Amino acid sequence: MPTNTSSPAVIEVTPYTQQQPRWYCEQLEHGKVLSFRKAPFPFSEDDARFLLSQKQTGSRFHKNISYRPASDVLKGADPGADRERLHTIVRNFSREVTQFISSFLAPYAGKLKLDFASFRPLEEQGRDLPLHKRNDLLHVDAFPTRPTRGGRILRAFLNINPAASRVWNVGEPFHEFLPKLKHREVITPPPRNPALTALRKLGSRIGLPVPDRAPYDEYMLFLHDWLKENTDFQTSSPKWELQFAPGSCWMVYTDGVPHAVMSGRYALEQTFIVPAQALVSPEVAPVNVLHKIAGMEAIQI
Ligand code: SIN
Ligand code: FE
Repeated sequence: MPTNTSSPAVIEVTPYTQQQPRWYCEQLEHGKVLSFRKAPFPFSEDDARFLLSQKQTGSRFHKNISYRPASDVLKGADPGADRERLHTIVRNFSREVTQFISSFLAPYAGKLKLDFASFRPLEEQGRDLPLHKRNDLLHVDAFPTRPTRGGRILRAFLNINPAASRVWNVGEPFHEFLPKLKHREVITPPPRNPALTALRKLGSRIGLPVPDRAPYDEYMLFLHDWLKENTDFQTSSPKWELQFAPGSCWMVYTDGVPHAVMSGRYALEQTFIVPAQALVSPEVAPVNVLHKIAGMEAIQI
């Protein structure tokens, strides 16, 4: 059996504790973080050194460098940067991590939707951000511009900082914390405006950049903000500190595991959307947990 570290939230994956791909998918879907001491895919020291040498000017709008695999577009790099090299490195990272996940998590192969990747050069500790954008408060992820319509958000991170861990807090997974929330009944997004919903659907169908959100997506966006606002959840819900050492890699369903980044800089990250049909444990997917809870039948996808 793989050894759990001191935190019940993490499973360390080592060459000596190999399990079947399906088992790893199950653990992830049930809210475990899978962690690797070193990147389980090729990533060169040279590339890491180059990324560490990049000096972003820290403009508020370009906090992270993002990469869109579908269109091969890199955004957010400073004009002075060697953008071509940066682009090549993030593109290669995205390809390598995707290839690894397609075999390590074989049940998902061919079904994953590749979302954005990013390079996160800024120190997370002490960032001055508006409440809903703060990443040091526990939250589950939901993307305003990219509705998943019930699909799950899987993310893989690599800490390329040679000198410091990336420190997270994580909480109990969705199927455990959500049913226990005392104020569940008040976590209800405002009613949808039918005219606006129809307009969005139309806009998105003809290719305008407007998100066609399902009620599920609106619920998850609302929950993201609600959790950050809720002092009781922030202070009293069970949580564990995880330290991701220099050079380590980890993956987690961030739509299900409440997480907060407390410190660290220089991480690479790739996001995947895993459609409902690809899941091995659909019963613990947030959309199905919400369906099971009385009064939440309206959370449609
Ligand atoms: C997040 O909250 O999704 C970001 C986590 C991180 O950058 O470590
Ligand atoms: Fe997040």
